[in-house]
Amino acid sequence: MAKLKTKTAFLCSVCVDDFPKWNGQCPSCKEWGTLSEFKVPAKKNGRKHEPRETKSLTDVLTANSGERISTGLKEADRVLGGGILAGSLILLGGSPGVGKSTLALHIGSGINRKVLYISAEESEEQVALRARRLHVNPDQLFLSGENELDGIISHIDRIRPELVVIDSIQTVMNSGLESLPGSPSQIRDCGQRLLEVSKQKNVTILIVGHVTKDGTIAGPKMLEHMVDTVLYMEGDDRYDHRILRSAKNRFGATHEVGIFNMDENGLREVANPSEMFLAERSVNIPGTSIYPSLEGTRPILVEVQALVSNANFGTPQRNVNGFDYKRLGMLIAVLEKRLGLAMGTKDVFVNLVGGLRVDDPAADLSIICSVASSTMDKPIGEDVVLLGEVGLAGEVRSINRLEQRLLEAAALGFKKAVVPAASVNDKVKKIKIDLYPVKFVKEAFKILF
Ligand code: TYD
Ligand code: MG
Repeated sequence: MAKLKTKTAFLCSVCVDDFPKWNGQCPSCKEWGTLSEFKVPAKKNGRKHEPRETKSLTDVLTANSGERISTGLKEADRVLGGGILAGSLILLGGSPGVGKSTLALHIGSGINRKVLYISAEESEEQVALRARRLHVNPDQLFLSGENELDGIISHIDRIRPELVVIDSIQTVMNSGLESLPGSPSQIRDCGQRLLEVSKQKNVTILIVGHVTKDGTIAGPKMLEHMVDTVLYMEGDDRYDHRILRSAKNRFGATHEVGIFNMDENGLREVANPSEMFLAERSVNIPGTSIYPSLEGTRPILVEVQALVSNANFGTPQRNVNGFDYKRLGMLIAVLEKRLGLAMGTKDVFVNLVGGLRVDDPAADLSIICSVASSTMDKPIGEDVVLLGEVGLAGEVRSINRLEQRLLEAAALGFKKAVVPAASVNDKVKKIKIDLYPVKFVKEAFKILF
């Protein structure tokens, strides 16, 4: 084989943009020291461009009814915005072992259409073994261990599936490129080709991509802007549940979540996640409170636990799971300055039970009250939920969707809700839960302790 010409470029490890020249700072994402040299392989033979036809919008509208194909899993359908849209390109990312292949196989079986499952990562036998455990419907599922892109495309032409699963993007390659499978240039090229295939042949393609634990691997991130929908599967080895989140969706809302339980027969949908997250709840113990979180459009009740103890030496420890570390620091400062609790010599640990990550300031009140509850050694009533953003003046600020959150709390039998006064409206007042509207954290403390 003749040696291919290569050209040098500099690739940023964060935003994956490439540049012809080296720079100390990435011109695109402004990170420092992230550019490194890589060889851009030349293509063996440039593909010939086939011009696309022009269509009138009316034709497109009549041809494409926007039909949603159900995945057979309600949780997955919701995250996708009501099912799979024909001809869309979906990225399913997650850390190795989290359950991406399992979910892809469930979907491949549940949609009840012709499916081509490219298992470039595992042997066909391994996939078949998993399929047996999952009680997959085998009639319309076709497997192939093909890992060469042109081979995959010819399988698509031959089998004419409605859904293609590529498991995973890190193992497929375009042999026209010199680089190895999984390298940025391979992933970018294969992603681009698969995008063309999905649009031209109106076939849905589900691309599975591994993400490292810190979520920064170049591969799947690079595909995010190409695909229509980005789903991330999250989970923790310590728990059986898995959370499916949409990070981008051209055909639906983002930040929807689906909750699954992983057992020996694969993934099971969790119809009532609040019950699951509160299953082992500790009552009457100082430091715990309940926060009605909202994940997408879905309310989920979470137990917030705090433990405050005297720091034995040096700088006190601050440790938090499932919430922003800096925000916890701010809440501790508010406790110290506005509420007169001496926190300077205390270790503070905060944990959102069940491994859920909350990014919503509405959790502030529950967290600050849990920390105070542990500091003062006074438990918070077991039938109370707490909601509100806390400001630097110790005020409780309004939050979004109070009604939805309180409906879930009331449905699960909670009797009292301490809420921001500014968020209370007529709809909220109709909910069967006793409202305690507050303007300052101080007022909440009076009610609770
Ligand atoms: P898998 O789908 O292979 O993960 P990924 O494709 O994201 O790497 O799932 C891997 C884990 O899931 C593995 O540790 C075994 C577990 N598992 C179950 O608990 N039950 C099951 O039915 C299956 C198929 C897997
Ligand atoms: Mg896998």
